[in-house]
Amino acid sequence: MTWWENEFLTVRGNRLYCGEAAAEDLAAAHGTPLYVYGKPRLLANLERLRSAFAASTPLETRICYAMKANAHSGILGLFAAQGAWIDAVSPGEVEAALAAGFPPARILYTGTSVSAEDLRRVFAVDGLTVNIDALEQLEVMREVAAGGPVRRPVRVSVRWNPGVGRGFNPRVITAGKKSVDGTPIKFGVEEKKVLATFDGARALGFEPVGLHQHLGSGWVREDFPAVRTAVDRMVRQAAVLERAGFPLEFLDFGGGFGPRYSRGQTLFPLGRYAAYIGRQVAAAGLRVKALAVEPGKYLVGDAGVLLLRVVYVKESYGNLFACVDGGTYNTVPRPAIYLQAYHEIINASNVGRGRRAKMTVAGHLCETGDVFGRERTMPRPKPGDLLAVLSAGAYCRSMASTFNLREIPREILV
Ligand code: LLP
Repeated sequence: MTWWENEFLTVRGNRLYCGEAAAEDLAAAHGTPLYVYGKPRLLANLERLRSAFAASTPLETRICYAMKANAHSGILGLFAAQGAWIDAVSPGEVEAALAAGFPPARILYTGTSVSAEDLRRVFAVDGLTVNIDALEQLEVMREVAAGGPVRRPVRVSVRWNPGVGRGFNPRVITAGKKSVDGTPIKFGVEEKKVLATFDGARALGFEPVGLHQHLGSGWVREDFPAVRTAVDRMVRQAAVLERAGFPLEFLDFGGGFGPRYSRGQTLFPLGRYAAYIGRQVAAAGLRVKALAVEPGKYLVGDAGVLLLRVVYVKESYGNLFACVDGGTYNTVPRPAIYLQAYHEIINASNVGRGRRAKMTVAGHLCETGDVFGRERTMPRPKPGDLLAVLSAGAYCRSMASTFNLREIPREILV
């Protein structure tokens, strides 16, 4: 068995299967490029995460799916039916979550640069929780509450910045003062303004119920010590708030832990993380009722693939290219956007046999960076072979654009 086979992806007769269907048959029926998502893997990921927390804490654990990773209505509907919660970051996401069956009480809206118009749309949804990103956001909240029919009290939480962040790439480290490339970090409320934000929210008639942090995305094993420090800070901050008269209903630790993207990648120790959170919250004697996490990648990343057709194999100056009928920006933009993003690519028509070659998988867009994978060793494809880009479930369709006026592919859920 290969490292990437799972409840959704298997190899049968040297060909890739997605669930019970051969990838070749799906491509023939629906065309390429094609996103294929697998229900069994989505459910297995959710269940594994639930068990890790159930084994670590007697508190209710809310798995808030970060739907920015993939807002496919079938995936949302599946998670809604499983009792998951939603992390929504725009009014559009809130409305898509409602349409997919999430009750407002299971939606946490976390915006940034939040406008009055954004707030009007989310306040109209009775029962959701609004996560505050800035002390300065209170002024916009005041204006909107004064100007319209806001059903009170609106539940709010505060996203604070614990001063430490981690992520696989400078662009996705979301806490701390500056990212590792020097970008000032825009998210959350700094420590010294947290209490004032809670006070201000209560003074405006909102009901403060939670504290939230999100450190970044794509953690591996080496990130664990820093993540543990951030857990300690969160628990300490919650104790400060409790003493100041703000007992919290929930602590939300955000997302960040991911699936395995490559064979050599170390895995973030999710079980130890859950156990650590459970232990620290219990030891602090906090009165919180619930813990929350907000996974995007972890739930959907490895439950999706992108199928592409090889148009021809090109040789130039000693480079060998598998030229495919899709472009990164329109399908799997991550390798084109983030230097560190790796997606395994397999020949779905011939997974493991025949002469192997070092190939660069090149898309059809007018940009040198439009490669799905550089110099990958795989059974040399023939024109017409199907390639599968793995781990295409998270931040692929949701970040795809129509660059070069290319269409965004169809999606199917099997
Ligand atoms: N909660 C909040 C408030 C977030 O901002 C994010 C992601 C998550 C949860 C989910 O993080 P996850 O569990 O998926 O790591 N486009 C990038 C990822 C950006 C993530 C931004 N925030 C990528 O393709 O890797």
